[in-house]
Amino acid sequence: MLSLNCRTLFFETTLFFSLVHWALGIPTYQWPDPRSRYIDKVLYEDGPDLLVSGCTPRFNSTISAQWLRVMFHDMSTHNVDDGTGGLDASINFELERPQNIGEGQTQSLVDFMPFTTTFFGLADTIAFGAALAVLGCGGPVIPFRAGRIDATSAGPATVPQPQEDLATHIESFRRQGFNITEMISLVACGHTLGGIRHADFPLIVTDNDTDVALFDTTKNFDNVVVSQYLQNTSQDVLVVGPNVTTRSDFRIFSSDGNVTMRSFLNNETFFDTCANLIERMINTVPNGVTLTDPIDPLQYLVYQPLLSYQNGTLIMTTALRLINASDNPSRTITLFWADRRGSFCPSTGCSVQTTGTQFLTTNIYLSAKGYNATKYLFNATINASTSISKFWFEINENDGSQPVAVDNGGSGFSIAQDSVFIDSLRSKTVFTSTDIFLKVVVAVRGDSNATSVAMTTFDPTTPLFNPTPPFLPNITVMNLELDESNPPEGGFTFFSGAATQQVTTVNYTGSVVGGTTFNVNDFDLKSVTFDLEFE
Ligand code: HEM
Ligand SMILES: *[C@@H]1O[C@H](CO)[C@@H](O)[C@H](O)[C@H]1NC(C)=O
Ligand SMILES: *[C@@H]1O[C@H](CO)[C@@H](O)[C@H](O)[C@H]1NC(C)=O
Ligand SMILES: *[C@@H]1O[C@H](CO)[C@@H](O)[C@H](O)[C@H]1NC(C)=O
Ligand SMILES: *[C@@H]1O[C@H](CO)[C@@H](O)[C@H](O)[C@H]1NC(C)=O
Ligand SMILES: *[C@@H]1O[C@H](CO)[C@@H](O)[C@H](O)[C@H]1NC(C)=O
Ligand SMILES: *[C@@H]1O[C@H](CO)[C@@H](O)[C@H](O)[C@H]1NC(C)=O
Ligand SMILES: *[C@@H]1O[C@H](CO)[C@@H](O)[C@H](O)[C@H]1NC(C)=O
Ligand SMILES: *[C@@H]1O[C@H](CO)[C@@H](O)[C@H](O)[C@H]1NC(C)=O
Ligand SMILES: *[C@@H]1O[C@H](CO)[C@@H](O)[C@H](O)[C@H]1NC(C)=O
Ligand SMILES: *[C@@H]1O[C@H](CO)[C@@H](O)[C@H](O)[C@H]1NC(C)=O
Ligand SMILES: *[C@@H]1O[C@H](CO)[C@@H](O)[C@H](O)[C@H]1NC(C)=O
Ligand SMILES: *[C@@H]1O[C@H](CO)[C@@H](O)[C@H](O)[C@H]1NC(C)=O
Repeated sequence: MLSLNCRTLFFETTLFFSLVHWALGIPTYQWPDPRSRYIDKVLYEDGPDLLVSGCTPRFNSTISAQWLRVMFHDMSTHNVDDGTGGLDASINFELERPQNIGEGQTQSLVDFMPFTTTFFGLADTIAFGAALAVLGCGGPVIPFRAGRIDATSAGPATVPQPQEDLATHIESFRRQGFNITEMISLVACGHTLGGIRHADFPLIVTDNDTDVALFDTTKNFDNVVVSQYLQNTSQDVLVVGPNVTTRSDFRIFSSDGNVTMRSFLNNETFFDTCANLIERMINTVPNGVTLTDPIDPLQYLVYQPLLSYQNGTLIMTTALRLINASDNPSRTITLFWADRRGSFCPSTGCSVQTTGTQFLTTNIYLSAKGYNATKYLFNATINASTSISKFWFEINENDGSQPVAVDNGGSGFSIAQDSVFIDSLRSKTVFTSTDIFLKVVVAVRGDSNATSVAMTTFDPTTPLFNPTPPFLPNITVMNLELDESNPPEGGFTFFSGAATQQVTTVNYTGSVVGGTTFNVNDFDLKSVTFDLEFE
């Protein structure tokens, strides 16, 4: 295999991959693009899906119900006439309004904040949360696009309320961009989850012994709310409550002579309509905001390489993720790399075999879309003085078929620079008697005298007790200090600074001897497994 002419191999595999990508409609990965990698992780690996994956109960309702409602309330500031408002996280500034009362509203934002960063904000997380909410309770898959922009202040107070009359609701939904049929549909799609809380709506839920009056008898995302309405067995207090004024669901559901509701007795119609309309809802954004194409999992995801200087070597860990790989225990994947300074590796590259595989099974958004994922882990020991300029992979099924290169279209995955990097093995989670924090260690090639290192951290922490919106990230710029516990070694100098465990991404920059400055942006700090250190 290695005796093959490289150019031929690259040509053939590039062609092969183009065809495969075309056939699967799966996106290719533009290296290094840390933002796509981060978003892929939140959607398809370690995102908020775990919180709702079993239609998880909370406060006598479900987390899904709370997430779907908060999305609607955020989005309902949209005005189709002037293009203002929409899904923009302005809800962060609107929760004190009576129309936004509700046990799950603040908690939902607390759920979402930890996944946010500069390029994937609260609005994107609320939108994705709604898609997960529906899926988690057994509903349909809703495509997700990113790119929403978080508002910095409140929008208009335009959330529909039960005591308003039908004409007001029709106008309210028109302003949000939905006609009467769509209004009926959206209320049915929303009110299949959760219910109404006595404490917040005592005039609607009049029974003092009821905490939450559920809209229907099932907690799942299904059309039972529809069939019970049509069979006159509804328990939805917005349909059958004692106070006629607040029977808004009844007025809305019956506003077209029940035509739309009857069509929803067909499960498929209900699912398709809800998926389409909730998708339109989460894509309702202010004019001037452009959303990405729907995001599918990346076919070959190359994980952020992590480096550490250790005794004359650079330890580099990374991984390659395959989507829908066939079950082949004989498959081997090799990581190759090329020198950066001088020559040590053979012309075919230094190489190392995978150290293990992980089959990723738990993400409901991945599996609902019909995908599975296998992650191949690598840990390379690289000569520190010749270092590394780029790496690539070769997949061998060992079944007689041609090995396949995953090499960024032939150019390899380049390591932009090896002079300033977060040292993943020297960085620690530090436990003191009063605190837990991350000590982030940055390695700099060269002597320390002419060097300065700075870091900007994005910390979305919300208070543990009595969290009160608006929740705004703490973006901190700091200069790192020479790290006394890591004295200079092997031509490297080590700097460190503290960050909280909640920090999602960091930017860092180091200027080295000679005045050159190296920048790394959008580094995913959550992808580092910090060793523990007790002080
Ligand atoms: C005229 C339109 C609507 C009115 C008047 C209305 C009113 C209400 C009220 C009063 C509650 C009780 C909230 C609580 O006690 O915490 C509620 C719950 C809920 N609404 Fe609506 N709603 C409307 C439309 C929608 C739409 C379009 C959706 C989503 C597509 C939606 C989704 C939900 C969900 C999921 C809950 C349950 C929340 C939970 O259990 O925590 N609603 N709605
Ligand atoms: C659920 O409702 C019951 C009363 O119906 C109440 O006693 C209980 O505290 C509620 N649980 C939560 C978690 O709110
Ligand atoms: C609402 O729009 C949908 C989709 O365009 C259409 O099928 C439906 O007839 C419309 N309903 C009304 C009442 O205009
Ligand atoms: C429910 O509680 C309210 C306020 O505490 C009280 O006024 C009302 O009489 C109670 N109703 C019943 C049926 O117990
Ligand atoms: C019915 O609801 C309306 C609107 O909330 C309220 O003004 C009215 O007092 C309620 N009537 C009764 C009998 O509770
Ligand atoms: C719609 O269905 C509800 C519930 O069965 C019923 O009460 C109502 O009279 C119906 N309205 C029309 C116009 O058919
Ligand atoms: C519709 O869904 C309900 C609840 O999941 C189920 O009981 C029913 O059999 C389904 N009907 C059809 C026609 O699929
Ligand atoms: C560092 O490497 C040298 C030679 O490769 C070895 O003799 C030495 O024990 C290593 N030191 C540590 C601390 O691993
Ligand atoms: C992953 O998906 C592929 C393609 O559908 C399938 O052949 C394979 O068996 C799946 N792997 C597992 C472990 O389910
Ligand atoms: C990679 O190898 C180094 C050196 O053997 C080791 O210290 C480190 O823990 C390994 N990292 C992983 C993630 O396996
Ligand atoms: C760095 O600065 C220290 C103190 O100013 C000095 O002793 C040392 O020689 C310098 N190192 C180099 C390599 O210039
Ligand atoms: C990192 O740099 C990028 C590009 O300049 C910027 O958009 C982003 O906001 C920065 N991140 C932080 C945490 O400051
Ligand atoms: C923001 O983070 C910095 C660094 O961790 C900390 O010193 C500061 O107190 C934080 N500010 C707020 C408002 O939490």
